Amino acid sequence: MSVRRKKPEELRSHRWYGVDDLRSFGHRSRIKQMGYASEDYAGKPIIGIVNTWSDINQCHAHLRVRAEEVKRGVWQAGGFPIELPAISLSEPVVKPTTMLYRNFLAMETEELLRSHPCDGAVLLGGCDKTTPGLIMGALSMDIPAIFVPAGPMLRGMWRGKPLGSGSDTWKYWAELRAGTITRDDWGEIENGISRSFGTCMTMGTAATMMSIAETLGFTLPGASSIPAPDSSHPRMATASGRRIVEMVWQDLKPSDIVSRASFDNAITVDMAVGGSTNAVVHILAMAGRAGIKLTLDDLDVIAKRVPVIANVRPSGAYLMEDFYYAGGLRPLIAQLGSLIDGGARTVNGKSIGENVKGAQVWNDDVIRSLNNPVSNAGALAVLRGNLAPDGAVIKPSAADPKLLKHSGPAVVFKDYNDMAARLDAPDLKVTADSVLVLQSAGPHGGPGFPEWGMLPLPKKLLQQGVRDMVRVSDSRMSGTSYGTCVLHVAPESAIGGPIALVKDGDTITLDVPGRVLRLEVPDEELKRRRAAWVAPKPHYPRGYGALFAKHVTQANEGCDFDFLTAPGKVAEPEIH
Ligand code: FES
Repeated sequence: MSVRRKKPEELRSHRWYGVDDLRSFGHRSRIKQMGYASEDYAGKPIIGIVNTWSDINQCHAHLRVRAEEVKRGVWQAGGFPIELPAISLSEPVVKPTTMLYRNFLAMETEELLRSHPCDGAVLLGGCDKTTPGLIMGALSMDIPAIFVPAGPMLRGMWRGKPLGSGSDTWKYWAELRAGTITRDDWGEIENGISRSFGTCMTMGTAATMMSIAETLGFTLPGASSIPAPDSSHPRMATASGRRIVEMVWQDLKPSDIVSRASFDNAITVDMAVGGSTNAVVHILAMAGRAGIKLTLDDLDVIAKRVPVIANVRPSGAYLMEDFYYAGGLRPLIAQLGSLIDGGARTVNGKSIGENVKGAQVWNDDVIRSLNNPVSNAGALAVLRGNLAPDGAVIKPSAADPKLLKHSGPAVVFKDYNDMAARLDAPDLKVTADSVLVLQSAGPHGGPGFPEWGMLPLPKKLLQQGVRDMVRVSDSRMSGTSYGTCVLHVAPESAIGGPIALVKDGDTITLDVPGRVLRLEVPDEELKRRRAAWVAPKPHYPRGYGALFAKHVTQANEGCDFDFLTAPGKVAEPEIH
């Protein structure tokens, strides 16, 4: 099929540089001020490289260099690269939570691309919220765009044993509190768990979202699994630079690539890799930007039919480096066979089916077949009931199977500080059968929807050997976390959701196979409690936080801002 190619005068950047008027004179003289001649830029696609590098983002430490490698590819293909720095969002460093700023990055990405003379975009990110933030912005701007995933770091090591980001932090923190490892052991783990630049190397939110970005068609084939320090990584970055120039000439935009089929594929892969529960919120938000209506129930339908086949922590045993050596995402997608719609398009101009055809698995314990899955329990279940009328989620594959059907008395913490103050108190009335409940941890309550959902277990229970309990919150949890944690309860407590009405001793029933989360309290009593409920004061009197609180949607809607998902196309800026 022949593809129509744009003419240079049809480039978006032509409006800045190609016309003969006073403003264009200014633009041209100013680009020459930086030492460029017209041979460098005139009539060429201008490629905005949106870079989420910063001095404090450990996962993106290599992106300053990768941007240069992308530029190399852009130059090779006859484009003109311009690097545009964007907010970096280091997952462990940014407070109160990076989730407060995902939409900020999405807005920034969209507006950077709109306000500058960009014909195409290369998006550099990977640390948790950066992938959805960049892609949401690119979907809204809808000029040709390609994503260069930061890639996972090397596996951690301690005394000859592999260590996984996050997952082993939680595990050994519990052991330290239980007294089974020493402070010195803990110090050695701190030295060995993060060995290179790159994202978390478990199947946390970063690896999940990079895999989803590839499945949606936003990366070159195989890009998402390459470890950040591997020499294939800069080669992929340069190839992405070459490819975006061609995408501009072909006018291959996000809206030409993403479809309902590509989102269904992304959800399927999310389940097959045992992906982070955070992906639920991001998938809903990205679909919203693409104008594709998805609901929690759509995710649940797919979750029921897709087993976990990536044997990667926290649902499995290995790490992302092993996953890459086993073949990476391409053969995993190939293993999914008819569960994937092979016709969905991707940035290289081919379908995802073409891109994964013939991809081989090199270690069938790491990438399993559908006949030999890691877990049939599913990477996601959507729960409903009087405690979560708009839904809640759990990751059954990372939970203790014995707890997936459980009733127990609630132990309620009104917020994070209350939990931190009382959790280890010797007189806390709690047993292994209790259900720990955390309120005030949602988009409004946190504020910003923090990752507090893997509530730590009370010390006295840890010392008795307990390692999992049912926990319920309106919070998220890290993709590297595990346990029987019910998350994203909606509506959240801070806006008066039923989770705000739970009291100590109330019985809570969790039935994952039946998809139920129920508060066993009569309706009349709940009515009385609701009448007495007092809304909390807002966290922010002004500024971005106040904007967030005014416009953020609930977890079941993706937590985007309502004004960013509103219909309508923003006009190109006037050039005066
Ligand atoms: Fe950046 Fe985990 S901290 S991906």
